[in-house]
Amino acid sequence: MVTTSVFSLLSALTVAALPHVVVDKAPISHSLSRRLNAGVSVRHIAEMDRARARALKSRGSASRPPMERAAVGSPDPVPNNPLVAYVVAGIGTPPTNYTLLVDTASPLTWIGANKRYVPSNSSKEAGQEVVIGDLISGIHGTGEGFFDTITLGDLTVKAQFIGVSLTEFDFNGGLDGVLGIGPIDLSSDSGFSSSGHPTVTNNAFIQDLIPSDEVGMYFLPTTSSPIADGQQTFGGVDPSFLTSLFTTVPITSTAPSKEFIGIDQAISYGTPDATILRSTAGVVDSGTTLILIASDAFALYQKATGATLDENTGLLRLPASQYNTLESLFFDISGTTFEFTSNAQIFPRVFNERIGGDNESIYLIVTDLGSPSGEGLDFINGLTFLQRFYTVYNSQTPSFGIATTPFTTAETN
Ligand SMILES: *[C@@H]1O[C@H](CO)[C@@H](O)[C@H](O)[C@H]1NC(C)=O
Ligand SMILES: *[C@@H]1O[C@H](CO)[C@@H](O)[C@H](O)[C@H]1NC(C)=O
Ligand SMILES: *[C@@H]1O[C@H](CO)[C@@H](O)[C@H](O)[C@H]1NC(C)=O
Repeated sequence: MVTTSVFSLLSALTVAALPHVVVDKAPISHSLSRRLNAGVSVRHIAEMDRARARALKSRGSASRPPMERAAVGSPDPVPNNPLVAYVVAGIGTPPTNYTLLVDTASPLTWIGANKRYVPSNSSKEAGQEVVIGDLISGIHGTGEGFFDTITLGDLTVKAQFIGVSLTEFDFNGGLDGVLGIGPIDLSSDSGFSSSGHPTVTNNAFIQDLIPSDEVGMYFLPTTSSPIADGQQTFGGVDPSFLTSLFTTVPITSTAPSKEFIGIDQAISYGTPDATILRSTAGVVDSGTTLILIASDAFALYQKATGATLDENTGLLRLPASQYNTLESLFFDISGTTFEFTSNAQIFPRVFNERIGGDNESIYLIVTDLGSPSGEGLDFINGLTFLQRFYTVYNSQTPSFGIATTPFTTAETN
């Protein structure tokens, strides 16, 4: 208490004496939640992730086939992301709360799926159309662009470009839209483009609210759903969750991964030199559930683990009795090796039946990307990867940082 008071006093004196000195801004954190989407639509979670992988690959390629259009109004349920990371964002003045999927592969924030946009006196029409949708469920229609105030915990960003859906539709079992915090896409012909409008992170930095143009994410592996145990930090990281220094790497120069939070990474199984995927480009993605690796690497992983492909879940399966034969994976990022334990490689057993599995088996979260290595997007490190680490994306450098947490090797699954 004394220290704080003295510090405050000193700061006040410093500011008073030197009015032009800017007091250091601190990073701003708020709560990040996760939910396993229930029901029939989370079956075949591997196939769901592969659909997103195909969309990422085509969106990041020079020749873009058109995005699939979602079957709005059809009796088939719109496919959900199996596991979603989401935040509550207030939009407008006074704010209306919307629950938004956090998507690190998209730069566009949009709302209006399950809850209509409530214009307030901070909203301003942008006079621009946007495509509303997501990379798993496809395009749902068009929306109108607005500038409005967005509030995330203690962070209030003004004049944020937001897409507003013209029609309501069910999106991820009740979510209202997407918080896009990925790299800005300057080409306006692709689906879900922000047409160069800054993301919330970019605007917070431009508006001098945070010390750097970066966003950190922290989760812990969990067996509860929904759960608000994560944290998103704009303008830096929260060191209280770290158990290592950051390994920071530039965003890869390899297309199409370079359009996203793309990095170069090698993967081995059992020992750090038993390579199953040579150093290659891929993507870190909060909108993907599993870890997807190129088909040739997946074949090596399947052989090494002795697991069989399960028809019901689309995941590799092992009898529970063979769990102790599973060995660690090692992710090599710029010469730093991150161990990914056997426990980290299994789907939380309490959720087996929710994804169409049985409780006598264990299911592996490493799955087939559906295409061979060498195509410039040879892996996706999804949420089940992210929840074992602290990660940070800096859009100015641009770079990606990763560090271990107290839960990197936790036995929770
Ligand atoms: C609209 O903005 C004004 C001034 O910015 C503010 O005083 C007022 O409370 C706002 N109205 C609403 C409904 O929020
Ligand atoms: C909006 O969400 C914030 C953060 O979760 C919460 O503190 C606030 O009470 C909510 N506001 C309303 C009107 O529900
Ligand atoms: C598996 O499920 C059955 C039936 O739902 C239940 O009786 C049994 O206790 C469960 N076993 C484990 C290990 O959870």
